[in-house]
Amino acid sequence: MDREARHSMSESEISIRKVQKKDYKKVIKISIDSFPEEDAEEIITRLFEIEHFYVAELGEEDVVVGFVAFRIYSIKTTHIMILAVESAYRRKGIGSKLLERVIEITEMLPINLIRLEVRLTNTSAITFYEEYGFKIAGTIEQYYDDLADAYLMTRKLEKK
Ligand SMILES: CC(C)(COP(=O)(O)OP(=O)(O)OC[C@H]1O[C@@H](n2cnc3c(N)ncnc32)[C@H](O)[C@@H]1OP(=O)(O)O)[C@@H](O)C(=O)NCCC(=O)NCCS
Repeated sequence: MDREARHSMSESEISIRKVQKKDYKKVIKISIDSFPEEDAEEIITRLFEIEHFYVAELGEEDVVVGFVAFRIYSIKTTHIMILAVESAYRRKGIGSKLLERVIEITEMLPINLIRLEVRLTNTSAITFYEEYGFKIAGTIEQYYDDLADAYLMTRKLEKK
């Protein structure tokens, strides 16, 4: 199946909605599995109340299979704090749907930059973001708690 077909198939099955309290445990689980080097529970607990926290839900089963949290800094930048898809549901366009929501919301605001950090070793995420026009803008040394370095990745938005 080609990429268009695979992605359009999931378009109809996946919906993106704001996170709710009932999602907490599932979001923590996806987070622990996706970021084994981090204190995922602490990160999610800290971010859970922020304004822009969305989950991807499989329509028919009401199963949460991914999430994204981002902050909007004044009028300047959207900062993706965390984005993950449950491993069994990857490569089906769900990460793309979550990222597209971030881009859509950003495009409604007078913001022209989206930024995020990613581990240097996280090649799948780097490829994923590059697919969406993000570029490596620099390296942040010892960014993570385990002192691993991060790439800063950014995408400029064209304003109409
Ligand atoms: C990165 C991540 C969110 C991508 O989610 P996903 O739902 O699999 O992404 P999509 O299916 O929308 O992929 C879109 C495109 O990105 C690229 N891509 C995604 N995963 C990839 C991988 N493992 N290897 C190479 N390219 C990849 C591909 O070009 C893909 O298109 P294709 O499947 O038609 O080839 C997911 O792998 C994940 O949760 N990883 C662990 C958490 C993480 O690292 N988060 C990012 C740092 S905050």
